[in-house]
Parts: sequence; structure tokens; C-alpha cells
Amino acid sequence: MRVIVGFGGGIAAYKATSLLRLFSKDGHDVVAMPTPSALEFVGQPTLEALSGNPVSSSVFERVEEVNHVRQAELADLVVVAPATADLMARLAMGRANDLLSATILTTHAPVVLAPAMHTQMWEHPATQANVATLREFGYHVLDPAVGRLTGPDSGSGRMPEPEEIFGFAMSVKDSSQKDEKKTLQGRSVVITAGGTREPLDPVRYLGNRSSGKQGVALAEAARALGADVTLIHAHMEVPAPDGVRCVFASSAEELRNAVLENVADKDVLIMAAAVADFRPASYEEYKIKKSETDDAAPTISLVRNPDILREVVSLREQQPELAPETIVGFAAETGSATQSVLELGEAKLRRKKCDYLAINEVGEQRGFGADDNHLTVLAATAEPAQVYQGSKYDVAKALLLHVMRP
Ligand code: CTP
Repeated sequence: MRVIVGFGGGIAAYKATSLLRLFSKDGHDVVAMPTPSALEFVGQPTLEALSGNPVSSSVFERVEEVNHVRQAELADLVVVAPATADLMARLAMGRANDLLSATILTTHAPVVLAPAMHTQMWEHPATQANVATLREFGYHVLDPAVGRLTGPDSGSGRMPEPEEIFGFAMSVKDSSQKDEKKTLQGRSVVITAGGTREPLDPVRYLGNRSSGKQGVALAEAARALGADVTLIHAHMEVPAPDGVRCVFASSAEELRNAVLENVADKDVLIMAAAVADFRPASYEEYKIKKSETDDAAPTISLVRNPDILREVVSLREQQPELAPETIVGFAAETGSATQSVLELGEAKLRRKKCDYLAINEVGEQRGFGADDNHLTVLAATAEPAQVYQGSKYDVAKALLLHVMRP
């Protein structure tokens, strides 16, 4: 998921930088969003290096993208640490005078605030009233810890430890997902994800750039909607989610076998994996070595891999009891000199004969490895194409609700 870590202007900001690491180590895409005064305590390069993303604090940067709206829509979770008295006062009033407050005012993602300030500021009725207001808005405000403050004194107002904030924020996100209606209770779905690797010798393979994020988002969304989920995954940049049955398959051949073993009696198969169309014709038992005597380079011959999607479609025609009821393919397309993405997708849907084809428009800014997505879903019947745009999770949810509607 995509997490915005907001920083208020307090000395605890230096400690809160480790939240960036905690979220990214857990496999999330992290955006650091300091208020201008937070930058007095931690430098922009530190935040950029730790998050791996560009950092802005003002709504007047990247204006052409309407950055606060874009960031707010992309976020799955917003965590602010330290939430200072001033920042909470501004949020309680609905002010939007920097990028962080404007983003929080816009987002639908859960918002977690970890206050940090001096005891007197925390106990002031103004701060207490603001915290009560923020909780009424549905923001999740942690109670500050009791302990040593910035100076020699101690009391209530210390920022909770980053690990505690991280754990709390993750539980907030989990329960917000659990609140979603269990629309797919009693339904079953098999999802493939990631990119296959076709072995060449014991150390080399032919692979592809699939991150697995869309397939994992589908599995997470299907689980949140109450479905019984089997995730058959090849190689991915993100961890497989908890709470779903996972089967690992490295090559196209292994993925094919895993799919055929797992689809009988299932309601839906979604083939989001990037399956290699070709594999090396032979596997060398020992590492391929350079020639010592000349500059000759080996030629790699390839053979075709099975087309899993087509095979499952044929299986359904011949032995429906062994196949899923609904079959959904994915296609990453860039368009070509003569054909649009949609035309290529329509041709692919006719070729593959699946029920739906979700076309993922890829390009420099879109697709592989990104956290947001643009999907056009074509149906084999005459029903109109559906377009979904947003985080991979939201797009996944919309796709599932569409292809699994009763
Ligand atoms: N697919 C499959 N088996 C393969 C290749 C692809 O099941 N050997 C599935 C993918 O998981 C995806 C769909 O087919 O759901 C379309 O994949 P794509 O690579 O776009 O299609 P190809 O038929 O390989 O067409 P292209 O020539 O455009 O690569």
C-alpha cells in the first residue's frame, strides 16, 4: 500500500524518520510529507533518501499535478508523527495552508496522528478540545507517552515509539479494510501474480519486470471482501499477503500446473501473472562458461510455453467441472504505431476467448511497479467497457466487484 508519513515541526521529527524505514521494510511505498517547520528539524535529503520518493511541503510545488489532490487520492494510509499542537489545531479547523494539511483535508484514507509536545501544551484545554474534534472526524489520535521530554523535565507529551506508531497504524488500516462489506463471502477466487522465470542454467534465467503488486492488491481486496482466495504467485517485489492460501510457482510450466491443480470448482480465475511466452529450449546442468580460446557467444534457442489462459478456457469447454466459472485475463499494452491500446485489447480478448480482459495501459509513467493503475475491462459479451483508475487496491476491488457480481 501507499503510506504518507507526515511530519509536524517538533524535535521528535528526527525520531519519526525511522517510521519511513519501518513502512518501506514492510513492503509499502512511502511518501514523506513534512510541514515547512518540520524541515527545520530534519532535512529534505534525509527524507528523500529514507523514503525513496521526492519530498515537497508546499502546495505551490508540482502545481500542474494538483499535488495535494493526487497524493490524497493515491494514499492508502496517512500517519503523522509528530503531530504538534499547532498542526492538530490547524487540522481541527480544516485548514489547508501547507501540503500536509491540504492532503489530509482531501484524503479518504485513514489518518493516524501521533502527538508530541510539552506536557503543558498537551494538557491545555485548546489542545484537548482539538484532539476531541479530530477524533470526532474519525482521525485516529494516539495518546502521547509519559516520559522524558526535550529538556530536563518529563511528563505526558512524549511521542510514542516509532514501532508503536507503526503497529497502531497497521491495525487501523487492517480494521478499516475489515469494515468493508463482505460482499464476496462464500465465493472463491484464484489469482495469479508476479513474473515467471525461465531457467537457463543453475544461475541464470529469463525473466520480466512484473512487480506482482496488482495481483497482490487483488488478493488483498478479495480477502477484505470475504472471498476464499488462492494466490498462485511467481516472483514478486512485494510480500504475499496474510490470510490467503499461497502457492509458489517459479516458471511458466510450474504456474500452469499450479493453476490446473487449483481451479476446479472455483468461481473465478484472474490471470494477473506475467507469464513468459518462451523458455530456453534446453536447460544447461552446469553454468554456461565463456570460451577461453575465442570471443564466441552462445546462441539461446527458445521454445513456446503453454498459454495457460487459453488452456483453462479449453478445459472449461471440455470438462467444466475441472475449470472455474469465470475466467479473467490481463493484458499490459502500450499501443502500437497502427493500433490503439483498446484495439489491441479487443483482438486479444477474441484470441484468448476468456470472459473478461483487464487492459493495463503501460508506459513510462504507468504500469510496472507503480502503485496506481488505469484499467479498462472488456467483456466477451456486448456489455460496455468499464474503466477504473486509482490505487492498485481500489482498482482491484472495483474489478472483483464487477467480474464477481451476482
Ligand atoms: N498468459 C498465459 N500464458 C502465457 C502467456 C500469457 O496464461 N503463456 C496470460 C496472462 O497471464 C494474461 C494474458 O494471458 O492474463 C495475456 O498476457 P499477454 O502477455 O498480454 O498476452 P500474450 O498472448 O502473450 O500476447 P503478446 O503477444 O501481446 O505478449
